[in-house]
Amino acid sequence: MTPDFITLHSPACTAIWEVRPDEAPLWRYWGPRLPDGVVPPAPLRNTRPEPSFSLHFDQPLSVFPTMGMGWFGQSALLASRAGCDWAQQITATRVERMDNAVRFHLTDDVARIAVAITARLDPDTDTLALSTTLTNNGEDVLDVAWLASGNLPLPDDAATVRSYGGRHNSEFVPINDTLTRSQWRRENRRGLTSHDCIPAAIVGCADGSAYGAQLAWSGNHLQSIEWLDDGRRQWQMGAGLAPGEIRLAAGESLSTPDMLSTCSAEGANGVSWAFHRAIRARMTWPDGAMKPRPVHLNTWEGFYFDHDLDALKELADAAAYIESLCIPLEHGKYEGVDAAMQVAKGKELYEKQCLECHGKNGEGNKEKFYPVIAGQHYKYLLRQMTEIRNGHRRNANPDMVKIIKKYTDDQLISISAYQSSLVMPGNMCKPKAGKKK
Ligand code: HEC
Repeated sequence: MTPDFITLHSPACTAIWEVRPDEAPLWRYWGPRLPDGVVPPAPLRNTRPEPSFSLHFDQPLSVFPTMGMGWFGQSALLASRAGCDWAQQITATRVERMDNAVRFHLTDDVARIAVAITARLDPDTDTLALSTTLTNNGEDVLDVAWLASGNLPLPDDAATVRSYGGRHNSEFVPINDTLTRSQWRRENRRGLTSHDCIPAAIVGCADGSAYGAQLAWSGNHLQSIEWLDDGRRQWQMGAGLAPGEIRLAAGESLSTPDMLSTCSAEGANGVSWAFHRAIRARMTWPDGAMKPRPVHLNTWEGFYFDHDLDALKELADAAAYIESLCIPLEHGKYEGVDAAMQVAKGKELYEKQCLECHGKNGEGNKEKFYPVIAGQHYKYLLRQMTEIRNGHRRNANPDMVKIIKKYTDDQLISISAYQSSLVMPGNMCKPKAGKKK
């Protein structure tokens, strides 16, 4: 029996499946655009020998690989019914065609599940959206430990994978891994999309093409790339489930978030352009336009995003009051025995690179938002400069960050010693009566 071949094209991508009525559709192609009307020359099993020391039935990658059909890779579903029905096998497939999309209705009458897999290849953005809905057709509860949103093939020359890691203030640090026969896997358990594990990656191939995928989901997730017997790889993504989190009662369904993917003969740039087009197409602004966004400075700690006008005014009043205060003369200067030497060394450094913004007497510049340094405590100054240098405190002016990067701890001590000795004429508090100067 000849199978049906189902093809979706977008300007830059093509997806082809081989469909038979009694099994899950097989992945025949996902990659850069093929010519119109292209059809595989033969069913996949007719084109290759049976792998030795394997089952006597060749099981290529399908859209829904499961243990019951002799799949030794990661299963798209891990579910059971009180310890039974865990080796699912799709025994019937019905195809529903839609504009630029196809939905495969799969059933397993033994494990009593139905699965609907939707694949939509958007012609405007070259992104393929895969999603899966699982329905419990049994009478009793189905415990679901894993349901992949999508299960994509990668070509046999897939060589590297770039994902992203990082932490707050140092986000999106690229992590480049080489694909080997070991499984590549990243998992996020923080409950929301985090700085250290983003549900996306880009795979680079030896021929310069690239494949990207991303889970449209903010929450725990898991993705894995695994080598297959035929030299291809499978790439799975899905929401991460805690034990017992999903228990489907009779007739209940679970729908996954979309796995969005794309590919490009242009490499990672092409992948990035497609994803940018896709996110722009998805963003909708209320009434078609972005509303004016309130912008103000330096109130993050005080207000987060709660822009309450009265509270903001109070903060401004407090700032104006503090500005009107005089600067104390006795303000925690550097007290080491080498004070004279440190101050002299610090003066030299300060006048070379800092004076231009912070002023000769440390008076700063109100208009340009350069802070007053005069009258600040030695220890405070040292800590601020160290934190700015080390990237732990953000600075309104990136030039200062660049300059301070090369200063050593010893140099910062000298500069702080000098700065804390600065006096702004006219702004310092009058010495208390009776106190000796
Ligand atoms: C291009 C202008 C510029 C230069 C040059 C510059 N700074 Fe700054 N500096 C700033 C700005 C702007 C801030 C912080 C404003 C903010 O936090 O938003 C700042 C903050 C500081 C602070 C923290 C003050 C506080 O009250 O917390 C210190 C200390 C400081 N600078 C020291 C230096 C030293 C030492 C140098 C020379 C090595 C230097 N700066 C060079 C613009 C500059």
